[in-house]
Amino acid sequence: MKKFLLAASGALLLTATTASADVPPPPAADPITKCKGCHGPELAGKAKSPAIAGEDKDKIKASMTTKIPKQMTAVSKTLTPEQIDALAAQISAMPKPAPK
Ligand code: HEC
Repeated sequence: MKKFLLAASGALLLTATTASADVPPPPAADPITKCKGCHGPELAGKAKSPAIAGEDKDKIKASMTTKIPKQMTAVSKTLTPEQIDALAAQISAMPKPAPK
């Protein structure tokens, strides 16, 4: 009986997940929020992290793959290759911040 209940609630969970497929994921699930923590909400730079919005796509990609700054070692390990490609495209398409 217990097993059946578990299976039933599992099925319910699955249904709930499928039903909300149109709803955008919560901000925490979006990997760009990780970059914003250091690089600022508009990726316009903050404290020791430079502005990265509108940077060259290959340069952004390199910062997560081949030329990882030591401060970004931890975050780069949390990203899949697909997320890295998506982030590089997304961030390079953002408007460059006005020079301060
Ligand atoms: C823990 C803080 C931190 C996080 C999180 C972080 N960065 Fe950085 N990032 C830095 C720092 C600090 C530098 C500057 C490193 C240096 O100059 O040696 C940097 C540099 C960069 C650079 C090079 C900029 C330049 O002009 O040289 C890029 C591109 C970059 N980060 C992209 C990202 C992306 C994309 C993410 C999200 C996946 C991210 N960063 C997350 C701290 C962070």
